[in-house]
Parts: sequence; C-alpha cells; structure tokens
Amino acid sequence: MRHTQQVVYLDDGELATVRAHEFYTSTLEARRTDKVPTTVDLTSEDYELGGYADYMRKEIHEQPDAVRRALLGRLDDRFATARLGGIEVTARDVHSIRRVTFLGCGSAYYAGQMGAALVEELARIPADAEPASEFRYRNPVVDPHTLFVAVSQSGETADTLAAVAELKRKGGRVAGAVNVVGSSIGRACGNGIFLHAGPEVAVASTKAFTNMAVSFAMLGLLFGRVRDLSVADGRRIVAGLRALPGQIAEILAGEEAIAEVALRYAGAQHMFFLGRVRGWSVAREGAQKLKEISYVHAEAYQASELKHGPLALIDQSMPTVTIVPGDELLAKHVATIEEVRARGGPVVAVTNADLPSGLADAVIKVPCNEPELNPILLTVPLQLFAYHTAQKLGRDIDKPRNLAKSVTVE
Ligand code: AGP
Repeated sequence: MRHTQQVVYLDDGELATVRAHEFYTSTLEARRTDKVPTTVDLTSEDYELGGYADYMRKEIHEQPDAVRRALLGRLDDRFATARLGGIEVTARDVHSIRRVTFLGCGSAYYAGQMGAALVEELARIPADAEPASEFRYRNPVVDPHTLFVAVSQSGETADTLAAVAELKRKGGRVAGAVNVVGSSIGRACGNGIFLHAGPEVAVASTKAFTNMAVSFAMLGLLFGRVRDLSVADGRRIVAGLRALPGQIAEILAGEEAIAEVALRYAGAQHMFFLGRVRGWSVAREGAQKLKEISYVHAEAYQASELKHGPLALIDQSMPTVTIVPGDELLAKHVATIEEVRARGGPVVAVTNADLPSGLADAVIKVPCNEPELNPILLTVPLQLFAYHTAQKLGRDIDKPRNLAKSVTVE
C-alpha cells in the first residue's frame, strides 16, 4: 500500500516519538499517553479528480452519493424519526433544550443558519446561528439550556475551535458537526454529527454544505419527534429526506441550462441575491459561492429589506438572483421580482414553483420536496451558477486568490 491508513491524533501539549518500528506518545512532561492508532477508511482515489477538470465540479456532482451516505442508517421508519448516534441526548434532555445555536464560519455559518430554520420549524425550539469568528469577542451569555452546535467541514477552523473552547470554559453544552474524523473541533466537542461528505478539496464548499443542511434536518426531525412533530409530519420529512439524492441528481442533469444562464450574466460587476425566510440562507450561500470563486461582487439581501435601501442600486447593470420557494410566500416573491424588473434590473429566478411566463428574465427550475427541505435543493443550482461564471472568467476555481481551504489562523 502506497499511503498510510493508520493515524494517531495528538492533543495540545502532546508529542509523538517515532522510530523505525515503533512510536509512542507522551505529554511535554514525558508522561506516556499511549494513544491507539485509528484506521482511516479513505483511499487515494477519494482524492483523485477522476476525469473532472477540477475538484469543485467533481464535488458538486458527488452530492447525491454524499447525501445518501449522510442518511444511511439514520432514518427510522418505525417512529418516523432520525437516529444520530453521535448526539448524546436523551428524550428528557431534548425537553430541557430551550435554544439551539449554530456556530460556524463562512459557508458553515450559512449552513448553520439553514439548520436553525430547520430546527425551529421541525422542533419548535428557538434556534439561531452566529459567526463563530465573532463569538468569543463579545462575552457571550452561555445558558446551560442552550445546545450549541459547532459546524465545520475541516474541523480545524481556528475561530470555530476558539468558540468551542470559550463555550466549554463557560460550561456550555456543545456538539460538533464536522466532516473530518478526528479533527480538532470533533475531538474538542467529543460528541456530534459526522457529516459523511467524503474529502472536500476545493476551497469552495459544496457537498459539505449540503450534508450539513441534511444533518440539521435530521437533528430537527429527531428533536421534533420528541416534542410536538406529529407522526404524519415525521413520515413526510423522512420521505422528503430519502427523495433528496435523486432530486439533486436531477438538478445536476440540468447543468447545461444553468451554465447558459451563468454565461449570460458573467459580465456583471455586481449581483444581488435575494431570499426571504426559507430562502434567506440560500441567498447568502449563493452570494458567498459566487464571490469567492468568480470575484464578482455579490451581495445577499432579505427580499423584504429591499425597499429599505438597496433598491436604490437596482438598474440594468445589476442582475438579481431571487430564491423563490413555492411556499405560502410565493405572492411576495413574485412582487419582489416585479419591483426589481420595474427598475430595469434583470432577474434570474431559482424556484420550484411554476412562475407566470415572462415574470423573470431567466428561470432555473428545481424539483419540489417538502417546504422545510426545499432550501437544500434550491442551493445546488447556485453552486453551478457560481462555477460556470468563474469558469467563463478564467478563474482558478479550486484555489481562489487569497483564500485557504482550512483557516487555521485567526
Ligand atoms: C466555503 O466555500 C468557504 N471556503 C469558507 O467560507 C468555509 O466554509 C469556512 O472557512 C469554514 O470552513 P470549515 O467548514 O472548514 O470550518
């Protein structure tokens, strides 16, 4: 075998002495710690491009399988709930949780925001998300009845790790949601949800984001079924989760049409991404993807805030991508599109609804799932939109300027 599969994770202040036929671990004071190696079940193929030109597109296309892995063995038909082995809470504990707060940076923060909406809707527990990078600087109130969830693909983001340390120092309850087994955040939390996205190499997070959202839907389902989510609603969500991989594959099969829309607007200097309620975290993640790999200035706004300021920026040079879930707010979304177009702004609608013909300049249609889960599907075309814009502009997609995959410094 060309590559090692046995690893030992060192804690802070621990060191390893490695000789030709043995190793041992100890503290800086030379006390032995006797760490046992862990087997990593990844192969070198997991890190190969496998015919793709870059990792980002490969990872976008791996999403149906990644979601399948995240769901594997975690859906319980008998009680219409989810089983998350890493979340160490009893039903009684779930009743004692008065708030769930997701902490993460960048896309992990936006995934946390999507997670907060899912937990609040499914479990009716107040939930929010906050950038982990700010957390320790504002003397946060750490309530013992709040469950904090530290979200990180790499599990090594310094700001998120520092937020976990601050939480633990204050006696907070924290669970991790990480993609890399044995990572610092996973170990610091000691319990949590493993994301099962597989290795993510491109700087822009895609499959890890999706698996974060899917995992938080399962967390919401689990907590909801302990609280007041009915069996019928539990079954609806279980079926919706099972439908996701196939529906994501359907979106990916429409890549060419999404690429055409991206090319049409690739010359824009600035873009707006609008969403409201369920679409708000989608808009934020869409803008994040576009700006980080294409360097086009992209700003996400809550559609309802448009007329309170940013509407002044709308003209024919400012395309707007609107997220339009076909939910009870559809009429509001339609009104937003009309407002933007009345000011000459081109509109791309990303939707699962049948919009009146001619309402938007371009429509990217996605399949329909349950209202709570639709944000997960609405995010996928935005990854392809960003990807094809960046490709048209000749950017280094996997390694955008000034960014690192894992931000291990403050
Ligand atoms: C995502 O596309 C970005 N590269 C970035 O925002 C990233 O999500 C953030 O740095 C957090 O990384 P983590 O998930 O590894 O903690």
